[in-house]
Amino acid sequence: MKQDLTSAEPRDPRAANNVSAVKKCRVCGHSIQAFMSFGKQPIANLASPDVAREQFTYELKPALCEACGLLQLIEVPSGEILFNETYPFFTGTSELMIRHFGGWAEQILARLKSVHDPFIVEVGSNDGTFLANVARHGVRHLGVEPAKSVATVARARGVNTQESFFGSETARHIRAAHGPADVIVAANVIAHISSIMDVAAGVAELLKDDGIFTFEAVSLADVIRNTEFDQFYDEHVFTFSVRAVKNLFAQVDLELVDVGRQSTHGGSLRYVLAKKGRLPVTPAVAAALDDERRSGLEDTRTYEAFAQRCSAIRDNLKSVLQQLHARGEPVIGYGATAKSTTVLNYCGIDSRLVEFIVDNTPVKQGRLTPRTRIPIRPPSAFAERNQNYTLLLAWNHRSEIEAKEAAYRTRGGKWIVYIPTVEIV
Ligand code: TYD
Ligand code: ZN
Repeated sequence: MKQDLTSAEPRDPRAANNVSAVKKCRVCGHSIQAFMSFGKQPIANLASPDVAREQFTYELKPALCEACGLLQLIEVPSGEILFNETYPFFTGTSELMIRHFGGWAEQILARLKSVHDPFIVEVGSNDGTFLANVARHGVRHLGVEPAKSVATVARARGVNTQESFFGSETARHIRAAHGPADVIVAANVIAHISSIMDVAAGVAELLKDDGIFTFEAVSLADVIRNTEFDQFYDEHVFTFSVRAVKNLFAQVDLELVDVGRQSTHGGSLRYVLAKKGRLPVTPAVAAALDDERRSGLEDTRTYEAFAQRCSAIRDNLKSVLQQLHARGEPVIGYGATAKSTTVLNYCGIDSRLVEFIVDNTPVKQGRLTPRTRIPIRPPSAFAERNQNYTLLLAWNHRSEIEAKEAAYRTRGGKWIVYIPTVEIV
């Protein structure tokens, strides 16, 4: 991804340099090969009427680096195609995530209590859901966010936001303008940046000597264990394991000092890194590395078995939907997630099998899902259709959605889930 300080304009996806493909690990340079393919996929987070953008595809194929343990996509669209003024993912659409980030911000602020005039930087600050908690306390902060759509919302709520991609150059500018950061935070964004070593260099550059870098990312162990195959899509260039994170940041002298489980996004890990030797390493790091080794994350057979479970889910889900269709039962989808783009395209599910999808994000409503062209409607359409079956595409928000739609269950409505296996519940 190009690192610059200008705001990201959507690039014409037909341009020749819109997809980059690697044969070697983006971190250690070891040769890598895909262990499976989810076929041609469009931009996952796409709620745009622009036909050229809709027709754009790349091949979704994950690979494991056997040398450093980093799972990565072979092909990725450029950052400018994904994160620009049309970017439709707003963190604040989930109450759970608002509470989650509120709690995390409180912890960080408590840690900084004795620091004079602390400075917090968030990489990929989206609509300011996290930093709003910091701004409210009058603490110095800066969000770095390339997507204009969400950055504009963050600014309107009083969150200082710089529209740019993050990397070493951006880090240098921020340090020169504001001084070093006591804490650098990133939630579900570090794994989205293909020029990861430049991000790591930027973090090392910007961080105060006794500062911490803390980030959350979907956990590879959970993705594999639960067959969360829809965690693979264009933005998720990497799916981190603890081992890979430790190796990667060691290259810029950042040490992994703590790691803890989070239930968000189907199972995430919160990492804490510091400059080498500055903080004691908690026993959680060795324990997590041990767990990974025991669960076979370093064994290629684990990924072959995963690929087989993915095809089984695909076949079962398609067959359930076809049977319901044959019986004349309408099926509605819940949550036009980025993850659902992988599911719908990999399984070949279009508006014949899923009549429409409801989503509470205003910019998604009235649009079509990319390539599969299923209409996206506001949540009010859910109760109006009076269907008996709903495909739960936002499965990571299951408790929040089931609570919200309790009346559906009461009248006998059923949810179709497909992670970790296809079930009607
Ligand atoms: P998310 O789970 O973050 O998934 P992804 O990263 O795969 O896009 O997105 C949740 C989507 O579901 C988002 O489009 C908002 C929508 N949503 C609802 O429509 N209703 C809800 O109650 C919740 C929690 C989410
Ligand atoms: Zn590697």
